[in-house]
Amino acid sequence: MMVAKRVRSVVPSKIRELFEKASKMEDVISLGIGEPDFDTPQFIKDAAVRALKSGETKYTSNLGILKLREAVSEKYKKEYGLEIDTNEILMTIGAYEAVYLAFQALIDEGDEVIVPDPAFPCYINDAAMIGAKSVRVPIKEENEFRLIPEDVNEKITRKTKMLITCYPNNPTGGVLKKEDYKGISEICEDSNIILLSDDIYEKIVYDYKPQCFKKYYDKTIITNSFSKTYAMTGWRVGFAVAEREYITPMLRIHQYVAACLNTPAQEAACEALRSDQRCVERMVNEYRKRRDYVVKRLNDMGLKTILPKGTFYCYPNIKSTGMSSSQLSEYLLEKCRVVVIPGNAFGDNGEGFVRVSFATDIEKIKEALDRIENVI
Ligand SMILES: Cc1ncc(COP(=O)(O)O)c(C=O)c1O
Repeated sequence: MMVAKRVRSVVPSKIRELFEKASKMEDVISLGIGEPDFDTPQFIKDAAVRALKSGETKYTSNLGILKLREAVSEKYKKEYGLEIDTNEILMTIGAYEAVYLAFQALIDEGDEVIVPDPAFPCYINDAAMIGAKSVRVPIKEENEFRLIPEDVNEKITRKTKMLITCYPNNPTGGVLKKEDYKGISEICEDSNIILLSDDIYEKIVYDYKPQCFKKYYDKTIITNSFSKTYAMTGWRVGFAVAEREYITPMLRIHQYVAACLNTPAQEAACEALRSDQRCVERMVNEYRKRRDYVVKRLNDMGLKTILPKGTFYCYPNIKSTGMSSSQLSEYLLEKCRVVVIPGNAFGDNGEGFVRVSFATDIEKIKEALDRIENVI
């Protein structure tokens, strides 16, 4: 079969491979999962049903329905004091599409994109599809997995076009300090590079309030989504926020790839943003209890684990086991039927760690940790 060169540069996901293997086994507990175990809140589903019943079944504006973009704009005004025009918001098929469009619209073959290591794997694959080079910048355990401005600075060359950040961070659960937001923004401004901030875990935080890069730097593209905040992974609603200079070329591609998002899903997303946010609070409180439990159990087992301030992941250091990340993941799957994700699935610097998700029912989490303790 003739496959385009750009496809050959996309590496199959190690996470998927592991899930494939696990799906053929019985009695497996997955701590690998990257999506909320909660159902979408009922009032959000009801809004989609109402939209369907009232005939909201047609194409919408390519940017997304106006009242949804107004709701997104209000959110940024209320939470960060930012004035975002509705034309600076593009509704996308999850944050995935928003990130993909940013790469496709703004990066050329041969350009360099700075990507933290470890990082969510889509960034390096989006770069590879274009023939752009991903330049990895380590984020380290000793810095609680913050992205350090000086480390970014060292990686900038004449070819650097964009920096990727994702905080609260998948896979480590790390967050940034206020001065990191400032420092990183200044470096991007000095070098005139675009900053793509993937803020999808913005609301899954514990005693911590994230900043918004766009407050510090105009050339920020925010990618965000309803997937994690409102337990809406299957609805496929996300968005990009950026100046027209960036949104316009992204829209040009989006209109031929997707035209627009599913109309009832946009209505539901609007309801999610405009209604009271207690549903989010309830889910985050539940994640917090699980987080405290998981991190204590892992540390008690001798797997050093930093208490994450955001996301539903923690990132234990497994070097004391004497196994590599992949060996330990395989071993846990074979010996006790528990899925964890090898840290190196997110980059070479993730070696020596595994990602453990607590977006799973607490009883299953307890059982999984008992099993791990027995074989470690
Ligand atoms: C960091 C990060 N960005 C983007 C995505 C894509 O999310 P979605 O397309 O569902 O909004 C994910 C999903 O796991 C993620 O973890």
